[in-house]
Amino acid sequence: MSENTATKPTKGILLAGGSGTRLHPMTQAVSKQLLPVYDKPMIFYPLSTLMLAGIRDIMIISTPADLPLFRRLLGDGSDLGVTFTYREQPSPDGIAQAFIIADDWLDDSPCGLILGDNLIFADHLGKQLRAAATRPTGATVFAYEVRDPERYGVVSFAPDGHALDIVEKPTHPLSNWAVTGLYFYDGRVREYARSLKPSPRGELEITDLNRIYLQNGDLHVQRLGRGCAWLDAGMPDSLMQAGQFVQTIQSRQGLLVGSPHEVAFRRGFIDAAALQSYARRMIKTELGRALMDIANAIPEKDAEAA
Ligand code: DAU
Repeated sequence: MSENTATKPTKGILLAGGSGTRLHPMTQAVSKQLLPVYDKPMIFYPLSTLMLAGIRDIMIISTPADLPLFRRLLGDGSDLGVTFTYREQPSPDGIAQAFIIADDWLDDSPCGLILGDNLIFADHLGKQLRAAATRPTGATVFAYEVRDPERYGVVSFAPDGHALDIVEKPTHPLSNWAVTGLYFYDGRVREYARSLKPSPRGELEITDLNRIYLQNGDLHVQRLGRGCAWLDAGMPDSLMQAGQFVQTIQSRQGLLVGSPHEVAFRRGFIDAAALQSYARRMIKTELGRALMDIANAIPEKDAEAA
């Protein structure tokens, strides 16, 4: 790792490829990450999470067929005060392949990676994300207690709370703690990703990358608590549940969930005039009107509501 790695701003990767076969026929013509989760395209939610972490330089990786659709939706990022770079993943050869695709762009910057179908909501999430994004060395993953750990990467803990092991989709999970699809790495991530070999299912596994950091004593596992919701919207039921969750919070509290435009404004990436301009284009929708109210209100510093 070069000397100035820790001082470089953290970059972000949004991985939005894959074939979405678990959502066919919905995803036969449309990318999964563009399906609606209540009032926004799915990708808005993980994008908001990266931006909440303070990340402004973001690479969007998707299939050759879907990438133009993401570009049409998100543009160059100027509406959000961020910069988007687009790159193709020709075939879904594993989550950790993202770092090989992004190799030259990453240089030796630290990097956050989020899966385009992962939705995370928690109080004070912004603070936890910024801490992870600015950690000078090592990696940070987030663990969440689930009923069906065998579907995920699973982390087990020693009695003193430190992480012992991470296993991808274990038949006999040693804990109920799933590793979510949000990861932060220091500048060594490219080098470690290049050293990975495809797993028996033929993929460069993100779990193998995390195990390298774990074995070096450099993996921080942040547990997400009870009040937190982590949803992966990869199946019809979970897609529906995610939409209902967003609808419930937004209509009950009158606060937006997963709006990158709100995060951009509250984080100071864009000013009120830029938010108003976007909101005006969306003014026929509840979302547009909510964003207009936010732009017209006395500026708040707290981005946790987003
Ligand atoms: O959601 C968290 C889980 O994500 C972790 O607990 C697991 O450790 C991790 O392996 C991953 O498990 P999944 O079974 O959900 O991975 P899946 O292959 O479904 O890919 C997750 C998303 O990433 C999916 O929306 C498609 C996208 N993807 C996946 C691969 C393998 C790509 O864009 N490119 C790829 O090559």
